[in-house]
Amino acid sequence: MAQRVIVTGGAGFIGSNFIRCIINKYPHYKVINIDKLSYSGNLENLRDIKSDNYQFIKADIKNYALMQHLVDEGDIVVNFAAESHVDNSINEPEVFIENNVLGTHSILEAARRKKAKLFIQISTDEVYGSLGFDSKSSTEKDLLNPSSPYSASKAAAEMVCMGNIRTFNQPIIITRSSNNFGPYQFPEKVMPLFITNLIGEKKVPLYGTGKNVRDWIHVSDNCEAIDFIIHNGQPGEVYNIGGGNELQNLDLTKSILSCLGADESSIKYVEDRKGHDLRYSLDCSKIKSMGWNPKHSFDSALNETVQWYKQNSWWWEPLKNIEGRRTS
Ligand SMILES: NC(=O)c1ccc[n+]([C@@H]2O[C@H](COP(=O)([O-])OP(=O)(O)OC[C@H]3O[C@@H](n4cnc5c(N)ncnc54)[C@H](O)[C@@H]3O)[C@@H](O)[C@H]2O)c1
Repeated sequence: MAQRVIVTGGAGFIGSNFIRCIINKYPHYKVINIDKLSYSGNLENLRDIKSDNYQFIKADIKNYALMQHLVDEGDIVVNFAAESHVDNSINEPEVFIENNVLGTHSILEAARRKKAKLFIQISTDEVYGSLGFDSKSSTEKDLLNPSSPYSASKAAAEMVCMGNIRTFNQPIIITRSSNNFGPYQFPEKVMPLFITNLIGEKKVPLYGTGKNVRDWIHVSDNCEAIDFIIHNGQPGEVYNIGGGNELQNLDLTKSILSCLGADESSIKYVEDRKGHDLRYSLDCSKIKSMGWNPKHSFDSALNETVQWYKQNSWWWEPLKNIEGRRTS
């Protein structure tokens, strides 16, 4: 029987890019996308997918009975489904605990009881908490020290996974990636927010002084890394996935301005985010020693991304004014 891959949150930014990646690479795999279509889930992200081996099911991963019905023995389950925006977690933490912790527990238990072959929990570098400018990069062995309701919910979901690894020997792998960028990212996140604002000749809202540092990875490099881990990773292990592109937010902003022919007068400095972590930085020697490396160079990938948003306003324009989100 063909390998089945269940992708939760596959209508979101990274999940949809991941589905495209594995359908192209393994056309014989059966790919099942389970997504509840929250404000950031969008089937337009998958408009070009024509494979007969692809199926979409609108469902909430918190629905345990349904998850048990949908997961089969031998499946690979990749759990992207989550509320993903830190700013929203500051306004509505309970939504994050419900979706990210209880949701993970529900799909994880379905995978365990139905004897799924592998469960991949997609986590984030934010679980390590804030680093100083001169601190060493985080390794997989470092303690988790989350700062926001979002990162706390992702760390808690990891703990639920860790409990199942230890108690039930369930085959689970956790990936922690840095900030992804690329096509189909909801325009509340900094990169598409800034690009689409500038295309619309609006200013870009930069938090605080812009000194905070993030590492950036092109989404297709992260998708390739997840695929690499599915086929080469060790169950029970955690893998950091970074792009090796640490940048202060101000420098990132200047690069975006330059790609769009704008200058610093387009920056509007706004009050800093509550609890804003200074820096995230991943030590990726573990996955690199196994043979994975990111393929994209930051400057050309940024340029390509800007071009994509310029050419695909049909995709993002309807999303710019979704109420209650930081889109201006
Ligand atoms: N974007 C990044 O830079 C980044 C970095 C590291 C880790 N991550 C993690 O990667 C995953 C995907 O992030 P993204 O940026 O693609 O987010 P996204 O917000 O674009 O997509 C999330 C998707 O999950 C779906 N979803 C949410 N709750 C659900 C539920 N209860 N049941 C079913 N579907 C549900 C949404 O409808 C949406 O389609 C998340 O787990 C996030 O924590 C993201």
